[in-house]
Amino acid sequence: MRKTSANIGFIGISGRGSGMLDLLLQVDGVKVPAVCDLIPERAEKGIEIVENRTEKAYPVHAYLDYKEMFANEDLDAVVIATTWITHAMIAVDAMNAGLHVGMEVGGAASVEECWEMVRTSQRTGKICMLLENCCYCRNEMAVFNMIRKGIFGEIVHMEGGYRHDLRDEICLGRENIHGRLYNFIHRNGEVYPTHQLGPIAKALNINRGNRFLTVNSVASKSRGLHQWIKDNKGEEYDLYNTTFNCGDIVTTIIKCANGETIKLTHDCSLPRPYTRDYEVQGTKGIYSEPEDGKGRIYIDGTHKEHQSWTHEWDDFGPWRDKYEHPLWSLYEKGGIKAGHGGMDYLILSSFVDSVYEGEKANIDVYDTATWMVITCLSEQSVAMGGAPVPVPDFTNGKWIDREPIRRGMYCLEEVCEECYENIDEEKTE
Ligand SMILES: NC(=O)c1ccc[n+]([C@@H]2O[C@H](COP(=O)([O-])OP(=O)(O)OC[C@H]3O[C@@H](n4cnc5c(N)ncnc54)[C@H](O)[C@@H]3O)[C@@H](O)[C@H]2O)c1
Repeated sequence: MRKTSANIGFIGISGRGSGMLDLLLQVDGVKVPAVCDLIPERAEKGIEIVENRTEKAYPVHAYLDYKEMFANEDLDAVVIATTWITHAMIAVDAMNAGLHVGMEVGGAASVEECWEMVRTSQRTGKICMLLENCCYCRNEMAVFNMIRKGIFGEIVHMEGGYRHDLRDEICLGRENIHGRLYNFIHRNGEVYPTHQLGPIAKALNINRGNRFLTVNSVASKSRGLHQWIKDNKGEEYDLYNTTFNCGDIVTTIIKCANGETIKLTHDCSLPRPYTRDYEVQGTKGIYSEPEDGKGRIYIDGTHKEHQSWTHEWDDFGPWRDKYEHPLWSLYEKGGIKAGHGGMDYLILSSFVDSVYEGEKANIDVYDTATWMVITCLSEQSVAMGGAPVPVPDFTNGKWIDREPIRRGMYCLEEVCEECYENIDEEKTE
């Protein structure tokens, strides 16, 4: 039977965790009776966030050791917002302790840790859901609606990336106790693939009739972080002579079983405005978002400049109005909550929806493992000069004939229009 409330523990209360914790407390039926961080002040801050939001409606305990929290607290689930190389380990421990898992984004350190998440989830029956908020971004959802309605024809190629100037955040990792720095010093590959890969994988039915076959990655030289240190900290700074292994631009190509190609770009150490560079190209048209939030579109036969040899772009605005995903129409009526334009609240609501259901997460453990594994595979490919690296099939062949999807408002496989029919009136009354 579907639950209507849950006790959720929260691990990792730095910049991201603080904001997500406050949003999680706003989801119907959620209580957070326990918070955890290795750093005592951050764990204490977790208590403060819960008490402020709930006006001290229930006691909250802070922990430095998440295993102690699992042992002492009566929890249904946990949200993990720690560092990239700790997510999978904590997720496995949580599932073994009988908890559903919602895990912040980041790539995997090894193929083995992905298998461990999959096998632990299978054995325990617990959800292991990557909290990939970009799957619920407004433009991505409208484009998804259009893909499912066949507006782009058959999809041939998709692109995306994480193009975000994070030079100060990376370089000041020690001062701010933030996890990215050592990844950029030691690793070289697509270290943050899932923001755009999540929506792409859902659109291409990955693990449900399609799968990733191979990954090829090539990395440029690395200059941006050294230049930032030179310009902002000077020669006296102890990282001045540090070699950063991670190339400034890492380009990754993924080939799919059904013939599509995907291009990902990781670009966080050179000056530039933010974009996730989303692009969808099919037999009937193209969507492209080179500037954050400002999509453009070209659909064969509908363009007002159709005769022009340049085939000029149309603004996506009117198309989004027409093809708005019903989840966003509903969300807008009810009042969009803060957090990356509203998608953070939706991914948390989706996780809680999956916890209440108790099975078939909207992003399941196969999605989680398949999206995260791209990082360690891309590192291998870069190390071999861009050679193709095979992607494991975490479904063990079930991708060719999976069990039916769970339809619902937060479903990312299909647009389940029927689930909104009555809710709309109830919520807006
Ligand atoms: N989805 C998004 O839009 C989005 C945005 C920002 C960050 N993130 C992701 O969220 C995660 C956290 O980001 P951040 O910027 O807050 O990172 P951070 O490195 O600043 O903080 C990580 C926190 O986790 C704690 N931690 C690490 N290991 C722990 C352990 N074993 N037990 C308890 N606590 C532990 C650290 O003490 C620290 O406070 C990262 O994976 C990041 O990629 C996602």
